[in-house]
Amino acid sequence: MALLSVEDLRTHFATSAGTVRAVDGVSFTIGRGEVLGLVGESGCGKSVTSLSIMRLVPSPGVIAGGRIRLDGEDLLAKDAEAMRRVRGARIAMVFQEPMTSLNPVFTIGDQIAAAVQAHGGGARRAAWERAVETLELVQMPSAGDRARDYPHQLSGGLRQRAMIALALAPGPELLIADEPTTALDVTIQAQILDLLRRLQAERGMAVLLITHDLGVVAELCHRVAIIYAGRIVETAPVASIFDEPLHPYTRGLLRCLPHPSRFGQPLSSIDGAPPDLRQTAGRCRFAPRCSHAIESCEREDPPLVERKPGHFVACPVVPL
Ligand SMILES: Nc1ncnc2c1ncn2[C@@H]1O[C@H](COP(=O)(O)OP(=O)(O)O)[C@@H](O)[C@H]1O
Ligand SMILES: [Mg+2]
Repeated sequence: MALLSVEDLRTHFATSAGTVRAVDGVSFTIGRGEVLGLVGESGCGKSVTSLSIMRLVPSPGVIAGGRIRLDGEDLLAKDAEAMRRVRGARIAMVFQEPMTSLNPVFTIGDQIAAAVQAHGGGARRAAWERAVETLELVQMPSAGDRARDYPHQLSGGLRQRAMIALALAPGPELLIADEPTTALDVTIQAQILDLLRRLQAERGMAVLLITHDLGVVAELCHRVAIIYAGRIVETAPVASIFDEPLHPYTRGLLRCLPHPSRFGQPLSSIDGAPPDLRQTAGRCRFAPRCSHAIESCEREDPPLVERKPGHFVACPVVPL
């Protein structure tokens, strides 16, 4: 059984201008110890997907349909208290901006120790030692001293390490990393990615890695899901995505990256704009930008179909 299974997830925002279908029928699974990359342009529903898994969708967003199961348990059926126990202990999240999770008024050691105690109990002193060990694990220099620092006393890269330590300390089975390196400069990005790769391998932790950077995918992920306008359009092992992308959108993304030296740059060079997420029903969302589109693409929303073993694509038109 998959560790995480997301099935036909729909997360909508009721606004005065209409219902924004930010996530509209997203399905994917993540196995134990697997790293799945979730890739797509800005605004296509990556963060809303991850916040839905955490049951932290901001108002006026609501999960309007679908299922989210962790190890077979239905997360959407859990009450607030049970969900609080899942967050942190079993699923942890790191963000682009560390101050989203770090509290400015407590030292990082105190925050990590509090997370350890909240999810495992135990004595204050043992929790502090665990906090310092976790800071060592994320290669925080002089971890014992830095544990007594407040977040603002650390550089951006070290704050990112502190946030990762905070997420990892309770020993989650699944880490959701939402563009964890986007805000960092290139050298620090590489260090943080190395760190994530090492921690993932050592702990056998599953990771949902959200990124718009296919270079990050190539380096860290086992499998990729490509998301477009609130829908997964293709999912495949990482080598298949690069060697034989099937969906016209995926091909477009890869064409925007003719050379590995361009990895790290935002995906923005496909002609046309993403659709209005208030009017997406009943057709392929990519059709208006697609050179392969035929008349039926305007009438039917194509389902994900397995075209090769383990390689699913939501496009009946594109040739193999
Ligand atoms: N609070 C909100 N109110 C209305 N629409 C929202 C809100 N938050 C997100 N959205 C919509 O959800 C879409 C997906 O957002 P998001 O998941 O943050 O994209 P990204 O893929 O860049 O992480 C956005 O294009 C936006 O239209
Ligand atoms: Mg986002």
